[in-house]
Amino acid sequence: MKLWGGRFEGRSSEVFESFSGSLHFDYRLLDADIAGSRAFARALERAEILTADERERLVEALGQILEDSRAPEFLTGATDEDVHTLVIRKLKERAGAVADKIHTGRSRNEQVSLDTRLWLRGECDRMLQLLRALQSSLLDLAERYADVVIPGYTHLRRAQPVLWPHYLLAYFEMFDRDHERFSQARARVNVMPLGSGALAGSGFALDREAIAEDLGFAAVTRNSMDVSADRDFALDFLYAANTTMLHLSRLAEDWILYSSEEFGWMELGDGVTSGSSLMPQKKNPDSLELIRGKAGRVNGCLQALMMTMKGLPLTYNRDMQEDKEPLFEAARQTGASLEMAAVVAGTVTLHEEVPEAAAEASWTVATDLAEALARAGTPFHQAHQLVGRLVLDSVRAGGKPADWDAAKLAAFDPAFTEEIARLLQPREGMASREIYGGTGPQAVATALVEARRRIA
Ligand code: ARG
Repeated sequence: MKLWGGRFEGRSSEVFESFSGSLHFDYRLLDADIAGSRAFARALERAEILTADERERLVEALGQILEDSRAPEFLTGATDEDVHTLVIRKLKERAGAVADKIHTGRSRNEQVSLDTRLWLRGECDRMLQLLRALQSSLLDLAERYADVVIPGYTHLRRAQPVLWPHYLLAYFEMFDRDHERFSQARARVNVMPLGSGALAGSGFALDREAIAEDLGFAAVTRNSMDVSADRDFALDFLYAANTTMLHLSRLAEDWILYSSEEFGWMELGDGVTSGSSLMPQKKNPDSLELIRGKAGRVNGCLQALMMTMKGLPLTYNRDMQEDKEPLFEAARQTGASLEMAAVVAGTVTLHEEVPEAAAEASWTVATDLAEALARAGTPFHQAHQLVGRLVLDSVRAGGKPADWDAAKLAAFDPAFTEEIARLLQPREGMASREIYGGTGPQAVATALVEARRRIA
């Protein structure tokens, strides 16, 4: 069955039909399409285009189609152009001639916008939940090793000592912004387009506000041409998915490094690692590598839709059918990656003494010393120079902070008081960073409590 055809004499080419058909992917919008059509039937009744009895029969039949769709053979043999056509064909089979009224003044252009919005709204909610679950497992992991000192890095060189929870809270914040982005995407998605017609607005007096309320939308769209042309709401979702994947891929990369023999800080659980078919000793971080890899794929989805939309003349163009596969793909991969990352976090064992020793072995306390000198009155630039010379002297002799003590420091330069010498210990210097947002132990403890409260 086709929803058009009166104007045609020739048949569609088979190649064209299979080239242009979208049912094999947009069947995923079936639940949304049925919900939208049921609401539309009620709207047609309010506009006195359907009688209560006709509306009843249509809504009922649509409900049955939804039930039928749960059976595996539901799509077998279906050759409909798209999911909207499929639903109307099934509706005719179930409800008979009254089905011919369901599409009164309605266009697939607004219908596909509605269905995609309904589907994306659910996917936004799913992402929001998965993000919270991941944030919560990061907090669990932070609390399991609340006192561990690790070297923080810049340029992948040991930079300054920080607390393990402080490091994890950095990711907590990234995922929190992703949560915000998905909420914002949801707000743009959650606007009701029906009543726009193909592009010019419906010719029937539909109560658009009532349809919005029926389907739980927060608002109605303001311009019918915009509705047929707009896919920003889909791009917003893809962008939120992309920052999420970007953050996940950085977390994955960190942990791939930290669990390597070279770092040796952490062990990933057997359940999330794989062996080698050839090398019996291997334990590979495949779960994290796949998260990192999928970030590339999800980025491809955003690029694909950006490129598809660029330069399209107003309003609807069939190009826009190409929005769906990237959306489905991005949602699937992002959801799976979020879930995987939370599971991996639950399996992490931290070998506390290794990062702690790494922080001690390198001169990660150098900044603490320079800042202490500055607090005692040495201008910071001079303090920086002095500590720089101390580090040079020490590393030339193959030394580290632990090889120094108060007497040796004072002998190197009298500006180093006994008080300052305590800062050769990474933990001592961290205590001077009790600034809001810093790695001071009190500041971090407060941030952890606050973080729990924020996701509660
Ligand atoms: N399957 C189409 C899409 O996803 C439906 C929209 C309307 N189609 C049309 N030829 N006007 O974009």
